[in-house]
Amino acid sequence: MPAEAVPRPPSDLLASRMRDPYPYFAWLRRHAPAYVERRPGRPAVWQVSRYQDVRSLLADPRLSKHPGRVPGYVPGPAGLNRHLVHSDPPAHTRLRTLVSTAFLPRRIALLEPFIAGVAHRLLDRVEHQAHVDLIADFAAPLTFRLICAILGVPEHLDAASTRNTLMATIAPRTSADPERAERDLHALLDVLIAGKRSGDEPGGVDLLGALVRAGDESGVMNEEELRSTAYLLLLVGHDTTMNLIGNGMLALLCHRAEAERLAARGAASALLTTAVEELLRYDSPVRDATFRCAAEPISLHGRTIRKGDIVSLLIGSANRDGQRFTDPDRLDLGRTPNNHLAFGYGPHFCVGAALARLEGAVAFPLLLERLGGAQLAKPAGELPWRPARVMRGLEALPLVRR
Ligand code: HEM
Repeated sequence: MPAEAVPRPPSDLLASRMRDPYPYFAWLRRHAPAYVERRPGRPAVWQVSRYQDVRSLLADPRLSKHPGRVPGYVPGPAGLNRHLVHSDPPAHTRLRTLVSTAFLPRRIALLEPFIAGVAHRLLDRVEHQAHVDLIADFAAPLTFRLICAILGVPEHLDAASTRNTLMATIAPRTSADPERAERDLHALLDVLIAGKRSGDEPGGVDLLGALVRAGDESGVMNEEELRSTAYLLLLVGHDTTMNLIGNGMLALLCHRAEAERLAARGAASALLTTAVEELLRYDSPVRDATFRCAAEPISLHGRTIRKGDIVSLLIGSANRDGQRFTDPDRLDLGRTPNNHLAFGYGPHFCVGAALARLEGAVAFPLLLERLGGAQLAKPAGELPWRPARVMRGLEALPLVRR
């Protein structure tokens, strides 16, 4: 299709897409399934919105994950981009093998009592409060505590300031001090890695200790890869599951009948398993897949994605595609089948999927049980969403108990 024949998205949908991207996604799927934004001096960015296209391109080797292929493009903090999300085979395969054993479902399942214990303790603290922020009081500390436990971050570093250091590196460039955020992050990684080298082993999974040893003893990972991987895991192990709990609880609070259905069946029910999948689909924590660029020209819907163009695969849109899901805008906790793409697809499929599912399966019934009577403190349309590139998550989820 010639560029001039492609319609432009209506400005009201563009303006409200941070708060509610779904009308914008529906417009893209219908009118411009391969939509490109070109800005002077910047690489072209394609947005791909239909389920079938997103799924096949997630696994398409013509799309590279190596940012070095786009001149001048730096997707994350300097010196910390050599991790599995930004690599192609063979480096990707090597790095993925090193981390994936720590996240095997049978290993993760052993963490259930620990997750439930941390979750209960956090809820004990807010039990008598009339106002609760489900993000700051629960989802953020729970998910960060868990990824720190898996990595083997010593308890004295596992605190709000460490979390802030990490999150500042993905804050929008306009509102933060990016140089300072990067300096703080590098200092944190120095302390963490030096601690492992001097024999600081907190026990448990201690994935970071294992990675340091793998690099130092058998040389399968260099220093930049080690630092980048530690950063990646701390960030994605936390930000994603925090959004699952926040977006999922918001969906449940806005769909009382579905929430009551789940509360009545509770933990260990088949409904809980399908409910976690449906909450992942309905308001996907990773809205857009991570960086990809065309390593060779690709034709899509009569248009040509040129070599070097960036391609954004809109997972949140694919998961609401009516060609794939019946009644896609409806929350149906019993939905089966539910082949959503919330964890991606193909060689980069989420390493932490078993952990994320378990965190959801522990958190949702517990929250319904202990905070079930709570209500949103403001209308859903006024809640603050974090202005993030890839993720979709709330800044705060204020609740009141009456
Ligand atoms: C609800 C929570 C989560 C969601 C929705 C999610 C989603 C995703 C998605 C969509 C991808 C693929 C990105 C792409 O292909 O562009 C991915 C990859 C990844 N995820 Fe998750 N994730 C979650 C939790 C976690 C957790 C808890 C960890 C643990 C550290 C984790 C670690 C990773 C890693 C390391 C990759 C990169 C895999 C690779 O490139 O080979 N994720 N995740």
